Amino acid sequence: MTIYSRITGTGSYLPPNRLSNADLVAQLAAQGVDTSDDWIVERTGIRARHFAAPGVFSSDLGLEAARRALQAAGLEAQAIDLIIVATSTPDMVFPSTACILQNKLGANGCAAFDVQAVCSGFVYALTIADAMIKTGAATKALVIGAEVFSRILDFKDRTTCVLFGDGAGAVVLEASSTPGILASDLHADGKHVGILCVPGHVSGGGVLGEPLLRMDGQAVFKLAVGVLDEAARATLAKAGKTEADIDWLIPHQANIRIMQSTARKLKLSMDKVVVTVDQHGNTSAASIPLALDSAVRSGKIKPGETLMLEGVGGGFTWGAVLLTL
Ligand code: ACO
Repeated sequence: MTIYSRITGTGSYLPPNRLSNADLVAQLAAQGVDTSDDWIVERTGIRARHFAAPGVFSSDLGLEAARRALQAAGLEAQAIDLIIVATSTPDMVFPSTACILQNKLGANGCAAFDVQAVCSGFVYALTIADAMIKTGAATKALVIGAEVFSRILDFKDRTTCVLFGDGAGAVVLEASSTPGILASDLHADGKHVGILCVPGHVSGGGVLGEPLLRMDGQAVFKLAVGVLDEAARATLAKAGKTEADIDWLIPHQANIRIMQSTARKLKLSMDKVVVTVDQHGNTSAASIPLALDSAVRSGKIKPGETLMLEGVGGGFTWGAVLLTL
């Protein structure tokens, strides 16, 4: 019998400290940084973001999202035999955030590791979990995207600090006799490392370089629109489907203008695109599962519908997953 993988539960979590654009603009103005609600909304579509409290880590946000996904799937933590956490803001250099989360969840003993593909992390992690389930290496996986990007923002750089937020999303992926994940397509091109990076590292007991996010926004924008379209088309071709088969597009929630361009290229109207960037900004690897969970819980996405998930981010990395819920 062919083994497939299916999403059987979704969950998400945003830390309670919500900053509207007006809140952030006022905080930045107090530090001499000039921006406005109008600029942020017009260029990005972002209206608010959530920041984790001091001492709250990616594993804590991921834990809440994972608990909600498990509850939705009707599973106990002990049933899980694989945990993959996609994050670029891990709790520690090592061990992995997945191991720390596994212990907090009480799923000790199962395989657990992190995936580092920045904002494409969730589609990378989901593809890996799907492959492991199809080979029989796992049967019930938790795939989590969790980030505390507020910790790596330069609040003196208005071109980046208004864009990002903290949060987590999770899915339970289970072995199934009927197809859930239909196809995926992953890529990276390391020659673009410099356009989106946190150019610091730990050495000899200190941090060398700059441990803050640096981005060439226009270069990222141009690359993102092109590669998202390529990844979506490649994934559809692998699954033997066309744009007309997509019920919902769930892109990485970075910027509404990137999402609009992507939808236009795929000839999809914006009412087929799940948009939550306005509520939480760019939460990197957490953004796709956050958007997915919000649309599932609101009843917008229904069982049996076909979803295209698309990620793009630092690396440069990009990819897509087509699935039936
Ligand atoms: N408030 C007010 N003015 C600002 C701000 C701000 N927060 N930021 C920049 N500006 C100014 C600039 O200084 C510039 O002023 P000037 O014309 O006097 O020089 C002007 O606004 C225009 O700046 P641009 O950089 O040309 O603005 P653009 O329209 O390109 O928008 C943005 C910038 C929003 C960053 C856009 O390029 C973008 O969205 N890029 C993609 C970013 C992205 O999605 N990144 C995440 C990738 S995923 C990951 O891996 C993390």
